[in-house]
Amino acid sequence: MSVLDAKLATALHSREQRLIRRRLPDPAADEGLADFSSNDYLSLASSPDLRARFLRKLSTAPAVLGSGGSRLLVNGSAHAALEARLAQFFDAPAALLFNSGFDANVGLFSSVPQPGDALVFDEHIHASVHDGMRGSRVAPALQRPFAHNSVEALRDVLLQLLQENPGFRTGKSSVFLAVETLYSMDGTIVPLTEMVETMEELFPRGNGYVIVDEAHATGVYGPEGRGLVALLGLERRVFARLHTFGKALAGTGGIVHTNKREAVLLVTPLVRDYLLNYARSLIYTTSLSYANIISADCSFDLLEDGTATQLLDLSTYFLSLLRPQLRTIPLSLLALPPHLASQPLPGAPPHSALPTPIIPILTPYPRPLSTHLRARGVNARPITWPTVPKGRERVRVCLHAGNAREEVEMLVSGMVEWARAWMRKSIEAGDAKTEVDDAVQAKL
Ligand SMILES: Cc1ncc(COP(=O)(O)O)c(C=O)c1O
Repeated sequence: MSVLDAKLATALHSREQRLIRRRLPDPAADEGLADFSSNDYLSLASSPDLRARFLRKLSTAPAVLGSGGSRLLVNGSAHAALEARLAQFFDAPAALLFNSGFDANVGLFSSVPQPGDALVFDEHIHASVHDGMRGSRVAPALQRPFAHNSVEALRDVLLQLLQENPGFRTGKSSVFLAVETLYSMDGTIVPLTEMVETMEELFPRGNGYVIVDEAHATGVYGPEGRGLVALLGLERRVFARLHTFGKALAGTGGIVHTNKREAVLLVTPLVRDYLLNYARSLIYTTSLSYANIISADCSFDLLEDGTATQLLDLSTYFLSLLRPQLRTIPLSLLALPPHLASQPLPGAPPHSALPTPIIPILTPYPRPLSTHLRARGVNARPITWPTVPKGRERVRVCLHAGNAREEVEMLVSGMVEWARAWMRKSIEAGDAKTEVDDAVQAKL
């Protein structure tokens, strides 16, 4: 074994020992299981309607495979037409296709912020934003996280920046805020209106820019799935929105809409043009194949037809079944995170009342729980460190429009059955911790 091979093998072995080695799931093993794992929120990947539309459009398309090169070399007519359609659908002055959401975030964050600018980001922001920031010209000291979804923590970080650098007050330098609308590990929803208001209040000269990643909210929230920004009517108050097609829309690729707070129509094409010139993840890659573009186009046909229904009802149904059951199970064994543990209180901010298709079930034993569910015909995946912090291990439930209510019932009964068996075994083994002694759970 070469020295390099030995080093790689040691790293993998270390992950194996710590039970965090990643592996591709066996494709055959998931067949026939109720899907509570994929990001195919609208169940479009297997939609007969989508398949029929796709095949129909493919059969008349002038080109089907490949794309011929980078967008800057060969600008496919289907690509340009889809951008025009999406700019209109999302009420954005311009739209630019990237090959993936990852590429879009890397391209945007690595190129647009200028030297002397600052990047402020939610501590749970996606890895692609981190990669983009790492490649940007913003000094590491000016890349600042704030506590997840906390408007107060955001305000503190911004005030600190304003205090340190007069350029942020005079408007000479810019501050970019990076948030997601629906966070994929916790199912939490950003208090976006409050954050936009905070940026506007602290940067009245318009040099505070909000960048919103709608990867998990696309197709799920807003009129015809246009996302949370559209639901809240913030289209003109955010600088850039990322919508990906790989989640609810059963495709690949991503799209960045660019807006500016004032004079939107003038500035937005400039940002688009800038990305075309400086976003390396766009320039130095072959653009999406015609087939990808055609399938994305078909997904938007379905959104416009109002296919995105029932998903959020299923989320409410799932929680209505699970919450009462959890009262009989120790919090230390199975629990919902605080934002889902109880119904939103009257007067709670509107974002916290939105149902979410992503529901983490916190447990220190995510793998055994997931294995038990698989044996019951249900696929819900364990998520462990380093994807989530230590002590926050979970089985993540992703609901889909195509899940039957019976499947949701099967999921809940599988979880409860597993927890009861675990409690029984622990009591037999004399482990006092499994008594239902968690007062908090009892109050749910
Ligand atoms: C919040 C967020 N942004 C961006 C991405 C990247 O999108 P894509 O899968 O299209 O590369 C993901 C995907 O995991 C994501 O969860």
